[in-house]
Amino acid sequence: MSNPQNNPLSAIPAPLLHWYDQGARVLPWRSHPTPYRVWVSEIMLQQTRVEAALPYFTRFMDALPTIESLAYAPEEQLLKLWEGLGYYSRVRNLQKAARMVLDEFGHQLPSDPLLLQKLPGIGDYSAGAIASIAYGQPVPAVDGNVLRVISRLLASFDCVSDTAVKKRLRQLVAQVIPPDRPGDFNQALMELGATVCLPNGQPLCLTCPLLSLCQGRAQGVELSLPVKAAKKPRRTVERTVLLLWNGEQVLLRKRPPKGLLSSLWEFPGMEEVLSAQQIQETLLERGIVPLSLEPIGQHTHIFSHVEWKMTGWEVKCHSFSPSPNCLWAAPNQLAHEYALPSAFRPFTQWILDKNP
Ligand code: ADE
Repeated sequence: MSNPQNNPLSAIPAPLLHWYDQGARVLPWRSHPTPYRVWVSEIMLQQTRVEAALPYFTRFMDALPTIESLAYAPEEQLLKLWEGLGYYSRVRNLQKAARMVLDEFGHQLPSDPLLLQKLPGIGDYSAGAIASIAYGQPVPAVDGNVLRVISRLLASFDCVSDTAVKKRLRQLVAQVIPPDRPGDFNQALMELGATVCLPNGQPLCLTCPLLSLCQGRAQGVELSLPVKAAKKPRRTVERTVLLLWNGEQVLLRKRPPKGLLSSLWEFPGMEEVLSAQQIQETLLERGIVPLSLEPIGQHTHIFSHVEWKMTGWEVKCHSFSPSPNCLWAAPNQLAHEYALPSAFRPFTQWILDKNP
């Protein structure tokens, strides 16, 4: 470990906190940072931008204001509250962790980052964020935004996907955390990464409070940083999506309990492009007699590892008894009761527009 006296980041806390005090965004988990609120906000913000998370956060807190209410919430309510945020394992882990907090930690979210990391969904970044923001512990919270800021400040070409590099950068940050304001310091670094030291060739260096300290900018290499491992290319999957109507209701199917979008509701369909004739044959094989079959358009949805190219069809049929993993849902139940992933949003919206 480097000597804290020679830490190249030692000059950043003062100008960074000054900048944060002047213009930090007013956010609900900052104004009222209870451990529960900070925890939920950090889980939401793991894969989601602040602006996108805000309305979800408010709604979640109104519906489930305590760890106890989260622990006992029915799964369908939880998934509905998370609908559209994606990465649904986050909310399932949140509930598992809430139950552990009740059973093993006396209803109190721990303040020790090592104990926090025993809870599902909390890794070293989230543990550091919660411990510092909610409990004032002087521990670092280094996410992708912060790695970008630090790599640029240091003009470091070390690959930030590498665990040893992350660990070293985290240690450098840890050494300069002001003991009186660890939560503000960590949030200021995140905020700088999210609003000024932007990725994809867009940093707003002229407004940066750390401009005069930034080696990356001084050397003219800021746009090449950080260095990251190349991502695997995304797979493309073609899908046929069926809106199967029995009159007033549309068929929903529960996805399998493992894998992408596990246990969420979807419109049934197949993992291939089918012609009208093939769809009709497939339905007849299952004892479903289509009365009409109309194409309703295509939609592509991009996940982190896979891209779905979906072709939608509206199928009117006689009612039938759905198999145990399916049910008939009225349009207002799509809006208010069942959680459907964003991938199906254009189809859900199409239904809601036709059935206001
Ligand atoms: N990203 C993750 N946690 C955050 C926080 N507390 N404030 C702003 N952005 C964040």
